[in-house]
Amino acid sequence: MDRSAPVLVFDSGYGGISVLKRLIALMPDEHYLYYGDSANAPYGPRPEEEIVDLTLRAVGGLLSEGPKAVVIACNTATAAALDRVKALLPELPVVGIRPALSQAEAAGCRRILCLATAGTLASASYARQLGALRPETEVVSVAAPGIVSYVEGESRDRARFEAYLDGLLRPVRSGGFDGVVLGCTHFPFAKGELRAALRQEEIRFFDAGGDTAEAVRRALESSGTRSESAGSGGVTFLNSLVSREALAHSWALLGTEI
Ligand code: DGL
Repeated sequence: MDRSAPVLVFDSGYGGISVLKRLIALMPDEHYLYYGDSANAPYGPRPEEEIVDLTLRAVGGLLSEGPKAVVIACNTATAAALDRVKALLPELPVVGIRPALSQAEAAGCRRILCLATAGTLASASYARQLGALRPETEVVSVAAPGIVSYVEGESRDRARFEAYLDGLLRPVRSGGFDGVVLGCTHFPFAKGELRAALRQEEIRFFDAGGDTAEAVRRALESSGTRSESAGSGGVTFLNSLVSREALAHSWALLGTEI
């Protein structure tokens, strides 16, 4: 496999750009081909089989680009379809992302609020993650589809978004959480608004973007395909919306501090 081949990064929409940022920070000399399936987002409320089909179709459609690795930068698609993508591509490293529950526990959190999509929260993969935590670790799980729509740019009305978060989090705000897991790759883009809605300036956020980037680095190293030419890195954005706006929104999110 060619070391200069791209790393394919896939998400249901723009959320995986939060993972792409971590990948670029860790491995700036790689070329990343980012595909967001915004035309079909959100994946979160869809039945599992539909998420599997959309994921296989999206990844399968990009194989002609000759990727050297595939990153499923979507918790929902990982939970539903990671094994199927791996089975489709036995010769390529395929890395997914799952809510950072064990990372939050390892950092000492005992009461964790996990925000994710309905699809992730209903998955067998999430049930296994919960089952692997210590019995004394408590997790309250909340689906937050409105954050996905906001990051997708479906509504840019910030006041309305803040009111949505306030309504969503009011019932759990007094829960005494010592950590919040951002279990959807769209959510790191709403960290500031989430901190304000939780009314806990010091709350710790956890997401698995950094760990996923590390896993990709290890996979490229063990397959001997890491780029060796300094300064050769870059990003190509593709989006199923096929519009100038979609690409402009992608570049804007890539430049957003998270
Ligand atoms: N970004 C995706 C995730 O990490 C899901 C967003 C959606 O519902 O499409 O779960």
